[in-house]
Amino acid sequence: MKILIIGSGGREHAIAMALSKSPNQNQLYALPGNPGIEEYCECIEIDVSDFEGIKNFAKSNKIQLVIVGPEVPICDGISDYLKEHRVDVFAPSQEASKLESSKKFTKEIAFENNIPTGKARWFNKITDASEYLNKIEAPYVIKADGLAAGKGVAICENLKDANLSLKDIFNGKFGSGQSVLIEEFLYGEELSYFAITDGREILPLIGAQDHKRLLDKDEGPNTGGMGAYCPPPILSSKLEGKIMNEILEPTMHGLRKRGVEYKGVLFAGLMVKENKPSLIEYNVRFGDPETQALLMLMKSDFTELLQETVNGNIKNYNLEWQKKRAITVVLANEGYPYQYNKDAEIYGINDAETNPNVKVFHAGTSMMNGTLVATGGRVLNVTSVAETLDLARERAYSAIEKISYKGKVYRNDIAWRALGKNT
Ligand code: AMP
Ligand code: GLY
Repeated sequence: MKILIIGSGGREHAIAMALSKSPNQNQLYALPGNPGIEEYCECIEIDVSDFEGIKNFAKSNKIQLVIVGPEVPICDGISDYLKEHRVDVFAPSQEASKLESSKKFTKEIAFENNIPTGKARWFNKITDASEYLNKIEAPYVIKADGLAAGKGVAICENLKDANLSLKDIFNGKFGSGQSVLIEEFLYGEELSYFAITDGREILPLIGAQDHKRLLDKDEGPNTGGMGAYCPPPILSSKLEGKIMNEILEPTMHGLRKRGVEYKGVLFAGLMVKENKPSLIEYNVRFGDPETQALLMLMKSDFTELLQETVNGNIKNYNLEWQKKRAITVVLANEGYPYQYNKDAEIYGINDAETNPNVKVFHAGTSMMNGTLVATGGRVLNVTSVAETLDLARERAYSAIEKISYKGKVYRNDIAWRALGKNT
């Protein structure tokens, strides 16, 4: 089968790996891809925002399936555009992707369908928002409505900071015409949960725990994610049942009531307290770096799963997982998530992969004059599997020691919630 992957990060490298394992003998393309993805795919230099270029490439190369990694092209409507041109695509429509692009839309769906989530109010005027802050207690959770790459959320311990965050949003820091959501602070443990839907049925995948903060002990600024493990011990089958029955199923029902069909992967960002899940947010794509761990454990044919979803055929799909644990540790560039160096040469990936249970996914790398260099904020994702999470973590961290580049930084405590803080 001829498949085109859209994106260029560690998530897309993991997707390419999973598709390459198919007995189907897939012919894989990635756009724009990265040097790691080239291991499995022919990489094509077309910008992910160039929908016409993507469609022309898909048509002239007889691509049978497109899978879209990042949220921006999904929220910009790539799925609708490709479908109009009769190209099969694994990604939800622009309307359905409002679950990620509009926090207001998601809250409305949650409130209308009694889905557990934090109380929230939204405001179009800074004076009204500020007045409301005076009536509630810290911590204040303030969110810009719209996509902001995880940066549109401020959690403030005092009113002064909360008002400064309001100013930032209304001054257009996250785009013009913003409205703001002020939300109840949820206490507990965060959990990422993934499911696939074909528009009719919803198939639970698996859960993972990410580490959003840059530094050990969950300190420092928020990032795209510094590491993840899968499945987390906190995810009992009882909790999974609640997530499906109280959150995902009612969300699908709510979308259907509005005439919105959802096909693709649905990623729920949850807070879990005393075994009760609450919805923080939805993403309409696979998580990064959660997917790197998740796909290492998938035993079923990922290609077939995507195809059956696109064909509306996942009812009774028998999804199988390896009964192991996976962990991925993000190697970042010093300075991330702000300014960082972009030309450090990378050594040791082959050494790190001598252990067959270890895979190094490329997130932000480039080839410059035949040399592999670190060009992104998140550079590599060192991923490993084992019978136990302890062993998976040990393998990942010993592989990390074999990789070097100037400015290599990473967290030492990935999976601390499950294993304790020391590595
Ligand atoms: P979001 O972009 O909505 O995922 O928010 C980014 C991060 O902010 C989440 O992963 C949480 O760590 C945190 N967060 C967002 N909303 C809340 C909330 N209501 N209560 C506590 N933490 C939150
Ligand atoms: N790791 C969180 C995300 O992909 O949004």
